[in-house]
Amino acid sequence: MLLSPLSICCLWIGLWSQVVLAQLEKDNPGPLNVTNVTGNPNTTSAEFGPLRFRDDGTFQISVFEDLHFGENAWDAWGPLQDIQTTRVMNAILDIETPDLIVLNGDLITGNNAFKANATAYMAAIAAPLVARNLTWASTYGNHDSDFNLSRVHLWHKEHEWPNSRTGNMVAGGDQVGVSNYYLPVYGAECDGRVDTEAMNGCVPELILWFFDSRGGNRYQQLDDEGNVVPEECWVDESVVEWFTQTRTELARSYSSSIDKATSTNTNTTTVIPSLAFVHIPLNASRALQLDSKGVDPNLFPGINDDFPLAGQGQGWCANGTVGCAYGGQDVPFMEALVATEGLMGVFSGHDHGDTWCYNWNTTGLSSDSSSALSTTPMTTPTTTSLNLCFGQHSGYGGYGSWIRGARQILISKIPHRQPLQQQPAQARRQQQPLDTDDDTVSTAVAAVPSSAAPSSLLTVDTWIRTEQQTIIGSISLNATYGQDIYPATPDVETFCLECNL
Ligand SMILES: *[C@@H]1O[C@H](CO)[C@@H](O)[C@H](O)[C@H]1NC(C)=O
Ligand SMILES: *[C@@H]1O[C@H](CO)[C@@H](O)[C@H](O)[C@H]1NC(C)=O
Ligand SMILES: *[C@@H]1O[C@H](CO)[C@@H](O)[C@H](O)[C@H]1NC(C)=O
Ligand SMILES: *[C@@H]1O[C@H](CO)[C@@H](O)[C@H](O)[C@H]1NC(C)=O
Ligand SMILES: *[C@@H]1O[C@H](CO)[C@@H](O)[C@H](O)[C@H]1NC(C)=O
Ligand SMILES: *[C@@H]1O[C@H](CO)[C@@H](O)[C@H](O)[C@H]1NC(C)=O
Ligand SMILES: *[C@@H]1O[C@H](CO)[C@@H](O)[C@H](O)[C@H]1NC(C)=O
Ligand SMILES: *[C@@H]1O[C@H](CO)[C@@H](O)[C@H](O)[C@H]1NC(C)=O
Ligand SMILES: *[C@@H]1O[C@H](CO)[C@@H](O)[C@H](O)[C@H]1NC(C)=O
Ligand SMILES: *[C@@H]1O[C@H](CO)[C@@H](O)[C@H](O)[C@H]1NC(C)=O
Ligand SMILES: *[C@@H]1O[C@H](CO)[C@@H](O)[C@H](O)[C@H]1NC(C)=O
Repeated sequence: MLLSPLSICCLWIGLWSQVVLAQLEKDNPGPLNVTNVTGNPNTTSAEFGPLRFRDDGTFQISVFEDLHFGENAWDAWGPLQDIQTTRVMNAILDIETPDLIVLNGDLITGNNAFKANATAYMAAIAAPLVARNLTWASTYGNHDSDFNLSRVHLWHKEHEWPNSRTGNMVAGGDQVGVSNYYLPVYGAECDGRVDTEAMNGCVPELILWFFDSRGGNRYQQLDDEGNVVPEECWVDESVVEWFTQTRTELARSYSSSIDKATSTNTNTTTVIPSLAFVHIPLNASRALQLDSKGVDPNLFPGINDDFPLAGQGQGWCANGTVGCAYGGQDVPFMEALVATEGLMGVFSGHDHGDTWCYNWNTTGLSSDSSSALSTTPMTTPTTTSLNLCFGQHSGYGGYGSWIRGARQILISKIPHRQPLQQQPAQARRQQQPLDTDDDTVSTAVAAVPSSAAPSSLLTVDTWIRTEQQTIIGSISLNATYGQDIYPATPDVETFCLECNL
């Protein structure tokens, strides 16, 4: 067969590019490979089993956020900061007994990362958690994505530990965001670690939603002038679509399992209580902060130093270019959240100098023209209020010297008047029977399946445990949050003296 010069040329180019591409892929495991890392939809870890309430009806989450590992590896102060951050994590975990750790974004300072070992810092983050046999779930922040750090790579790195429950339920990789998923929390009796038999009749009593608000810069991409390419900093619309759809499906299947368990057909959609985690806060938080009423230190205790705060869509124009104050791109996400019945709180990080929870009154959104939020083109919200919370800067990396700490969230099936954390953590631990194989107890509980947990029966208490093991900003996100008077949170700073030499 006679090959024309053109086809030889093309053949040669084809072979050459394959060799080059293969070499590139070997050096660089996947910037262009927008991997569909869809995790196990129920994210039931084989080793750890499903998330479950304790026998005493509580479930505790410790939120570490803005850990900012890996700054300036080439200076002494960078690695010294990381030592301090590990100390913070250990100090808090020595005294709190969480059932789940949430790493709420900015795990690593990606803009300081080296391509060869950008995700290596995950080992330092995992160490104190693995040592205590704790499981974690992450959201990624704007610093978890940069020229030398990919969210997809970080996701794969995390899963070197079975302790990670970080899911990925929306395709699209780095550009759409990776940490978009939910985790169900079951009743204490639902211990399906080994087989699914134990999960029969079990329905989630609580749903934890995790969203990727993206931001930072695109992995290994430069523009024509050789500058890094900024990544959109809001929850992608495809994620919002997935959220609204999945929320509806969950409610539907939850209702039909209850019908089955009780042999009735009420055909009503039952509300599953939920919490949401997303690194960058909503524009609503900013509007509430800037509103004439402001963030009252006794009604909404916490530090309020980042003023005005930075939220989703900040720095972007409505047409998707950069260079404006705010582009409004988080409106669909805000609409979806306020339309989520049973959503008890949205927890963010990002603004290290803000640590309050604000009870956002969503009933007047479209009518109250005196409110700063009146311009928000909201569809009619289903909720009457939504708690918007910051956590506490946990890392010595990242800006600011506010005392490091971690927000604790205690979800409880027992109605109570006093914040539960006033009980010593040790006492709570002892309430858990050591022998969980007690058949009579578990069948008795299983006979009244999780249907007995409408959102009104779940209470949410939250407080900040500081690096000095003290408690600040302890509140109950109950029906009167926003009216109850609390002590103001002291605005204290801590320093790493040797880091600043
Ligand atoms: C790209 O993704 C596919 C599908 O997950 C995977 O099989 C393949 O190994 C990935 N390639 C690289 C270079 O990571
Ligand atoms: C990603 O995975 C899901 C679930 O397996 C599948 O439905 C979807 O088509 C996949 N998307 C892509 C882009 O591969
Ligand atoms: C969880 O997922 C696994 C695999 O996707 C499946 O086999 C199992 O039945 C699921 N468990 C529940 C409780 O849905
Ligand atoms: C870790 O926790 C899991 C689930 O609670 C348990 O099955 C496992 O035995 C624990 N491992 C260790 C080393 O304690
Ligand atoms: C990553 O590589 C840099 C440069 O070689 C080095 O200074 C740093 O210690 C490394 N970090 C980790 C966690 O291995
Ligand atoms: C990315 O990492 C390489 C080394 O792997 C380093 O030379 C370069 O400065 C880093 N680039 C950026 C933008 O951080
Ligand atoms: C339950 O509600 C759905 C949707 O409203 C309806 O289509 C269905 O017929 C109802 N089923 C029963 C048994 O009432
Ligand atoms: C965004 O926040 C600003 C305050 O910074 C407020 O005036 C505006 O109404 C908000 N817009 C939306 C769509 O939430
Ligand atoms: C996008 O909108 C901004 C602000 O309105 C404007 O300055 C810019 O020219 C627009 N860019 C494009 C490509 O339309
Ligand atoms: C919430 O806003 C509505 C409409 O502005 C108002 O009628 C209602 O009193 C507010 N509720 C609280 C608890 O402030
Ligand atoms: C909410 O919690 C606070 C603080 O524990 C308490 O003072 C208040 O009575 C509670 N409100 C309700 C309605 O339970």
